[in-house]
Amino acid sequence: MTTASDSLQMFQHHRTISVCKNRGWPGRVQAMETSSEEQAGAAQQRGTKMGSEDGARKWDVFRLGNLLRMAVVWILCLFYSYIQYHVIRLQLPHRKHEFQSLNFRFRSSQESKPACIVTGASSGLGRETASALAQRGFHVILAGRSLERLEVVRAEIQTQSSSASCQALAVDLTSVPSILSFTRTVKELFESHDSPGTLQLLVNNAGVIAASQRWTEDDCDVTMASNYIGHYILTHELLPLLQKNAPQARIVNLVSFTHRALQRDQIDVSQLRNGGIQQKPADRSYYPLAKIYETSKLFLILFSYELHRRGFSNTEHKDRVSVMAADPGFASTNLLREVPNWLVQLSFIVMRLLRLWQSPTAGASSVVAAATAPWEVSGKYVFGNQGLFCKSTSLTYDEQLGRSLWEASEGICTELIDKHSKYD
Ligand SMILES: NC(=O)c1ccc[n+]([C@@H]2O[C@H](COP(=O)([O-])OP(=O)(O)OC[C@H]3O[C@@H](n4cnc5c(N)ncnc54)[C@H](OP(=O)(O)O)[C@@H]3O)[C@@H](O)[C@H]2O)c1
Repeated sequence: MTTASDSLQMFQHHRTISVCKNRGWPGRVQAMETSSEEQAGAAQQRGTKMGSEDGARKWDVFRLGNLLRMAVVWILCLFYSYIQYHVIRLQLPHRKHEFQSLNFRFRSSQESKPACIVTGASSGLGRETASALAQRGFHVILAGRSLERLEVVRAEIQTQSSSASCQALAVDLTSVPSILSFTRTVKELFESHDSPGTLQLLVNNAGVIAASQRWTEDDCDVTMASNYIGHYILTHELLPLLQKNAPQARIVNLVSFTHRALQRDQIDVSQLRNGGIQQKPADRSYYPLAKIYETSKLFLILFSYELHRRGFSNTEHKDRVSVMAADPGFASTNLLREVPNWLVQLSFIVMRLLRLWQSPTAGASSVVAAATAPWEVSGKYVFGNQGLFCKSTSLTYDEQLGRSLWEASEGICTELIDKHSKYD
């Protein structure tokens, strides 16, 4: 029988990865961004491909169903989350020991500054989180696809506070060579004499909602690759470095209330590369964007709890790394950039009317609370801008499911790292 520490060792299995000389990784994904018009064109093409008006109509109905799921089911999920949040807030005075977000100070000394990595730091919540952490004394590595956009954020942060310390580093989470190149640079950076500090925090924030089916060069669905698989591989590669700085080290995964929309029979871990959902073969020509996004976020929660079980709660090791799942609620960012503009505007109006609208700064406070809670706290789901510990759905606490997902992810991770290491 494999013990928890064996499994963790498996996860940490060191690989020799040589340098990926290429930088920037353009064109890894078949199509990076698609406008609403292009999507409409693609929909029409699909209709034509199906060879009938009936096909086009079916596609329109399917697409509308997807958008309705986002407009109605996601709002209901958000409502449910806030009901739980307010119940917990009311109980707060009696349960302070359980639910509290503290401004924990990370280890900092004259010689070493605490350092962190924030993925997707070029926009929205990642940008605000990076700024807040820099103001709290972290050296922040801004990670993202475009160095140009990251440099703009770096300049902004340093204008806000002259003592802020940050740097930009490119990574595309849909490209395994890019992730390996990034982690190699990070390892070299922290092992060098002029290391900017000790890596104590990894914030897996980057995310997308792709509106049409697109594949990475390794045949993974782009939403699943950006939101889950890429972060799994990144964590796998950086965990040994974080463990060196344990016990004061943490991983924060950005998750979403939308995971509440899923039932057990809708997901299929063996279909991880295809988006992780159960699909009847006849439906394959349709792209269920909402379900795939929800599944990627559900998987991140399952991954957070499984990593917590393997690397924190079930081990006596000194190198225990704390893991948190942070859910900001709804925040007005660029996340819906591929969704039709009318729906985005409508959702902003509805959210404002329901008083559930948040600025990116308010949304990022849940992430900062999760990141700065005392390190002994691990395996928690932090919701909302006061950083309360809430409950995700019962599905996310299913240990059997967590194990299956871990094994499937480990399989893909090993295969892809081996494949790409060969070419270095
Ligand atoms: N906004 C919300 O209401 C909400 C709610 C719950 C959870 N979340 C989660 O919060 C996280 C941040 O989203 P956001 O709302 O701040 O959206 P956003 O403004 O669109 O930011 C997403 C960030 O992810 C980066 N990114 C996307 N694909 C990437 C890739 N393949 N490799 C590296 N970076 C990539 C983007 O970089 P580029 O600049 O290169 O595009 C951007 O910096 C996401 O994981 C999202 O699921 C958001």
